[in-house]
Amino acid sequence: MAKKRAKKGRITLTADEMGLQQREISISEFFTKNRHLLGFDNPRRALLTTVKEAVDNSLDACEEAGVLPDIWVRIRQTNGEDRFRVEVTDNGPGIVKSQIPRIFGKLLYGSKFHRLKMSRGQQGIGISAAGMYGHLTTGKPVAITSRTGPVQDAHYYQVIINTKENEPRILKEDIVEWDMERGTRVEIELEGTFQRGNWSVDEYLEQTATANPHVTIHFEAPDGKKQVFKRATEVLPEEPKEIKPHPYGIELGMLIRMLQETKCHKLQSFLHNDFCRVSSRAAKEICEKAGIYVNARPKRIAQQEADRLLKAVHKIKLRKPPMDCISPIGQELIEKGMRKQFEADLYISVTRAPAVYRGIPFMIEAGLAHGGKMKERSAAKVMRFANRVPLLYNTGACAITHAISKVNWRQYGVEQSNGSPPSGPLLILVHVASPWVPFTSESKEAIAPYPEIEKEIMLAVQECARDLRRFLNRRRRRAEEQRKREYIQKYIPHIGEALQEILGFSDRERKKIDKNLTTILEKSRTK
Ligand SMILES: Nc1ncnc2c1ncn2[C@@H]1O[C@H](COP(=O)(O)OP(=O)(O)OP(=O)(O)O)[C@@H](O)[C@H]1O
Ligand SMILES: [Mg+2]
Repeated sequence: MAKKRAKKGRITLTADEMGLQQREISISEFFTKNRHLLGFDNPRRALLTTVKEAVDNSLDACEEAGVLPDIWVRIRQTNGEDRFRVEVTDNGPGIVKSQIPRIFGKLLYGSKFHRLKMSRGQQGIGISAAGMYGHLTTGKPVAITSRTGPVQDAHYYQVIINTKENEPRILKEDIVEWDMERGTRVEIELEGTFQRGNWSVDEYLEQTATANPHVTIHFEAPDGKKQVFKRATEVLPEEPKEIKPHPYGIELGMLIRMLQETKCHKLQSFLHNDFCRVSSRAAKEICEKAGIYVNARPKRIAQQEADRLLKAVHKIKLRKPPMDCISPIGQELIEKGMRKQFEADLYISVTRAPAVYRGIPFMIEAGLAHGGKMKERSAAKVMRFANRVPLLYNTGACAITHAISKVNWRQYGVEQSNGSPPSGPLLILVHVASPWVPFTSESKEAIAPYPEIEKEIMLAVQECARDLRRFLNRRRRRAEEQRKREYIQKYIPHIGEALQEILGFSDRERKKIDKNLTTILEKSRTK
């Protein structure tokens, strides 16, 4: 209702006046204001996020094309302390010319959002957001060079986002000479801070190499220092399969949308074709339980009927979703990865059987390393991964941190203050793999604490911790024995001397007694 014009000193608006101010907000405008949601809340993180978005895309593209990834990351300082040019090049499949402007100049444009398949990217925001941040802070466009094969031309583009429309604006378009036969290079200039250590580009690349042993990454830092993370295996991970949604995880709104969008003309075939694990018979049973005709047209199903369908689905026993949509790292490679980075006394790893949250499959892998050169008196190092991508920020909000803190570590011989992660010379690695990882925000740095996911993480970590407890107990026992042995060793010469005195042995005999007692002591050592 229209408001009356106001009392003194206060400007009030009528509904008509308010109406004039109300207009659509484009997704790009929204994220320009809310850049923290995308991981661009401070200059240090902005640089990391930019590298991460480009490298994650390169790895996804290479794996989808069945190519062993070779990635070149180069960061150069341009004018001023806080300006960098990030250049990420891959030997992937390249991008077809017509798609380049939209991929880099439009938010929410990508190939991964509408499918259920495990990949690093999900949302279709990552790389265009990095380009948008770069343009916002330096005024420079994203530059892309891409070639799809040795006989094809290499295309070069300079693109920015028209944030009002969320549409690309091409500033330059060319065919260029390029020494790569196939692949993509993305260049973004941005305001940032380069620092080594925790939460840095180095740490991200190092951890990426750990979780992706099939990748080689060449890194050139702004100070000119070069580093190569060489691949530890020539074998690409098993290709995860795409799956359809499982009916147990579906919500009413989504069911209604699927009914509207389906290509099937009959309800029974819709249920059978558009979902996984619904046989023709099960589909018929669902229709019967919901009291809807099997040949009903999906587009004509009303909301109440959809509601009945959903209730009927939960009354039918269906198999769990197929699990070949997940490609785990594997116990052996997790251990190998940890060994490459950390010198420890013990390495343990576990790959759990797949589980399901909201009808979506997921799998937890965990690794544990103990002792060696790791610091005795500090908090345990936790390495979090989602679909092989290291998660460095938003630690406190992540299901992995929650689950690790909930484990009673003292029970396994590790120090812990109440409700926190453990402390000691300990590395804990957790990998959550799923065709849809539920992140807490678009920056994809923390996993939402779904109870099913937290529980599986706890079980995986506890499985590792049980081995750790056995190892620590054995080590404690050995140390105790060693202490006793040293104590006895000290008395052996005195025993020899006393026996010599009482029984009148010669010096040779005394030495023999000393030797025999030492041998017996050595033999008692536990293996
Ligand atoms: N280096 C590349 N090689 C081939 N295709 C690429 C490359 N980079 C991006 N793409 C394509 O561009 C799309 C958009 O990338 P973008 O990073 O914006 O989104 P995404 O990876 O799908 O999801 P997310 O927002 O979670 O990163 C990808 O889905 C992919 O199809
Ligand atoms: Mg991406």
